[in-house]
Formats: sequence, structure tokens, C-alpha cells
Amino acid sequence: MSAKDLILSSLEKEPQIESAYGFAEKNKLAYDNSFIGAIRSLDAAGIIISEMKKVTKQTVSANAEDVLKNGSEEFRLFNLIKKEGTPKAEVEQLPFYRTGFAEAMKLKLIKINGPNLVRIVDTFEDSIQKSLKEVLGGRAATKNEEVIFKRRKFLRQETITDYILKQGPSFNKRSKPVANLTAEMLLNGSWKDANWKEYNFNALGVYPKGGSRHQLSKVRMNFKNIFLEMGFEEMKTDMYVESSFWNFDSLYQPQQHPARDAQDTFFLNEPATTSSADMNPDYVARVKKVHTTGDFGSIGWRSDWKVEEAQKTILRTHTTAVSSRTLAKLAADAIAKGEPFKPIKCFSIDRVFRNETVDQTHLAEFHQIEGFIADRNIGLPQLIAVIKEFFTKMGLPDVRFKPAYNPYTEPSMEIFAYHPGLGKFVEVGNSGVFRPEMLRTMGVPEDITVIAWGFGLERPTMISYGIKSIRSIFGPKTDLDFIKNSEICTYGI
Ligand code: PHE
Repeated sequence: MSAKDLILSSLEKEPQIESAYGFAEKNKLAYDNSFIGAIRSLDAAGIIISEMKKVTKQTVSANAEDVLKNGSEEFRLFNLIKKEGTPKAEVEQLPFYRTGFAEAMKLKLIKINGPNLVRIVDTFEDSIQKSLKEVLGGRAATKNEEVIFKRRKFLRQETITDYILKQGPSFNKRSKPVANLTAEMLLNGSWKDANWKEYNFNALGVYPKGGSRHQLSKVRMNFKNIFLEMGFEEMKTDMYVESSFWNFDSLYQPQQHPARDAQDTFFLNEPATTSSADMNPDYVARVKKVHTTGDFGSIGWRSDWKVEEAQKTILRTHTTAVSSRTLAKLAADAIAKGEPFKPIKCFSIDRVFRNETVDQTHLAEFHQIEGFIADRNIGLPQLIAVIKEFFTKMGLPDVRFKPAYNPYTEPSMEIFAYHPGLGKFVEVGNSGVFRPEMLRTMGVPEDITVIAWGFGLERPTMISYGIKSIRSIFGPKTDLDFIKNSEICTYGI
């Protein structure tokens, strides 16, 4: 409790506080400027009346405490001096020696005999200790005692400003402690004398309502955790703008493929092309060869291949461009170091862009969950097993596969998962085994197989949260309240 509160609650019970000083001492509060400030401000508000009184107060010195406990200096010294004599050197270093010696000589208790001190009287009664005890116990000091005590610095006199406190005219009208500072209080100055409420540092506080995670973010976190749990490494996905080379050509996607039309892909005007800094010329030449005349046992697409087409900048249409960059780098590094290609599992979750007609379930941008495993002695069975495992972890154990076509995988499979809420299978992704035309061209050794897949993030999120239109959680029509309040559907992933 603050000084103010203590004073007020005491004045509720007792008519007055005799001594503010004594009150502070009893309540273990410092009798300092802030305590006196509390009295003054209560008085100024008419809540209490304070009557000032100067009091002199005696405080006992450490010296006196010592005398009370152990006897006066002369008494203690006298007890050490023998009748036959005690060498002065034996007692000279004692802390009470100086005063003890002076007083004992004055009282003729001892005398000096050569190097010794000799006791002159047989007994000595410690009258100093006795009178100090009595005076501190309440007996008025005689004039003589006052002089002695002063000389021996037993007592200290202090004049302090004390107060008698009683209820003031506004005591019962006093306001509840104020908790909020208002503009009005600042203007009229009442903040200075307000009865401020104390801080309660043990209060729990208000739980903040804002700052919930976006549904896409929550599902993304789930996917990410599953990948990490299964031992996958995350790939760097910080390039929304990609070259056609990495997005298509490196994946053995022919330059005449319809996906490379402006109807499907966003091409950039500025810069419309990219320099080939991250396109190693040898690798580019090998890509050209595999596309046009074929390589590694393949007859190729047998169509034109122009580097200018590969240099066109686009918004990446899939994160398979990220897998492609990663694999090409791993292969090149292994070759440069002369080390065997190390098996690896990688994933990424990030945005891709497609020039699509926007409707309830399609946006021109969405998120892809991409992954691949590069290892020896793996193939379709491992791809099926891994995807099943993945969707089981997501709460959708019923997975089906359908043969499909991708220019860069053979075989390829579309993935369907049973959605209990809808009571039917829905397409959740695409997958396959990367073709040798892609991998061997990069320098991935022949005995390494890469199984890969891409899932959408939006579909599973919409299923999980029972969202009908993708536009209600993404884009300019986002419903912020829905994002803030939505709970995961009970039947969801
Ligand atoms: N890139 C494909 C898509 O966008 C998904 C995929 C990735 C397919 C890897 C096979 C292998 O749908």
C-alpha cells in the first residue's frame, strides 16, 4: 500500500495519527520527501488536516550501543588490569583503550608503573552504563548526565518536522483512486493532487484480440512441419521473376509448348530478358542439344530452340523452377568437387503466377508446395509411398493416383485425396519421376533418380476452413473478420 492509502485507512479507524514520523517508522516507510509530499497533497485536497510540530528526537549512537552491551570503556579496561600490573603493550591496541585509559586515570582506578598499568582500587561499579540504561529506559537525565553523554557522544539530538494527522472536511467525500489520466485533468491541473490508483503488477492483463495468423499461413506451417519431420531441407524461393530458361527449358519443356504462351504465362516488359549470368554456357548448349537433336539415348523434341526464347523473363509459373535450379547446382557442385552426388530431399512452399481467368476457385497467383527426393534405387513405388505418407500426416489417408502427362516427368501422376466434407475425391497435386533429358543434361549421374511433386496450398486450406471462395481470404476482397475469427473445420485436414 502507498503512504497515502496507509494514512487514509488508518484515519478511517483512528481519529488521529499522533506522529506522522512514528507512523512511517511503524509501517516501515521512509520518512522522506515523498512521504511528506503525500501528507501535503492530502491536506491540500482537504482530505486530511495536518498539524506541523517540531520535535527533538534522541537517537542512540553506535558508541552508546556498545556501552550498553559491553560496559563503559573504563570498565572494560579496568577489568583487564591486574593488581600486580599488566603490560601496557597488551591492551594498547584495543579499540576502547584510548577513552578507557583517560577515564580510568581520571577516576583514579589505575596508574602507570614503568611499562605496566596497575589497578589501584579493588572493585569498580560501572555507573556510566547504569545511568545510560536508565535514561534510555525513560528517566530524565540529570544536568551532569547530559554533559557526560554529550561529551562521550552517546546521544544525538535531532529536530524533525513531524505532523499530527486527522480527517479533513473532504475525508468522506474523497474520490475513488483515479486510474485514468484525462485531457481535462491535465488542463485543470487536478492530476497533481489526484488520488492515483496504484499499479497492480500482478494483474493478468487483457488478452490481445488482434494478430491472428492467416489460414494460408497456418496450413503452410503444417506442411512445412511435416516436411521437416520427414527430413526434407527447405529450398530458397526468393525469385518471383524467373527466366524462361529455368522455368521451362531446364525442365525439358519444349519452346513450342502451349504453357509458354502469353495466355498462360505472365511475361515481363521491363526487363523483358535476362542476361545469362546464371545460365552456364556449357549447360545452355547441352540444353539446346537435348531439345533439338536429343541426348543420353533420347531423340529430343526435334524442334527449334532459341536462346532468346529462354532469356525471356516471366513470373514463375511453378516452383519446379526452384527444384530445377537446386538440382543443377547440386550436380555442378558435386562435379566441381569431384565427389559423388549425395542423395537429398528438398521442399519449398511459395507463390507462383498464372495468367488465369479469376473465379471462385482460381486466382492469378497461388502457392505451391514443391518437393523432390534424389536418391539411388528409387522410383514410382517410393513416390506413391511418400505422397501417401505425406497426406496421411495431413489427415487425408485416402489418396488415389491417376496417370497424367508432364513434359518433364515420366511417368507422371495426378494426386487425388478423399475429402470427407464433400464426400468425394478432389485433385490435390501433380507428380512424377524427372526425365533423364532434364537430369543428365544437368550432370546428375545416371544412377540417381529424382521423384518429385507439386501440391497447391489453397485447395487444402479451403477444405480445412470450409472456405467457398478463395477471394474471401486472398486479394483485395479479403474478409478480415473471417481471417481473424475462423476456426478449423472439424472434418478438415
Ligand atoms: N510443376 C507441376 C505443376 O505445376 C507439379 C509437378 C512438380 C509435377 C514436380 C511433377 C513434378 O503442376
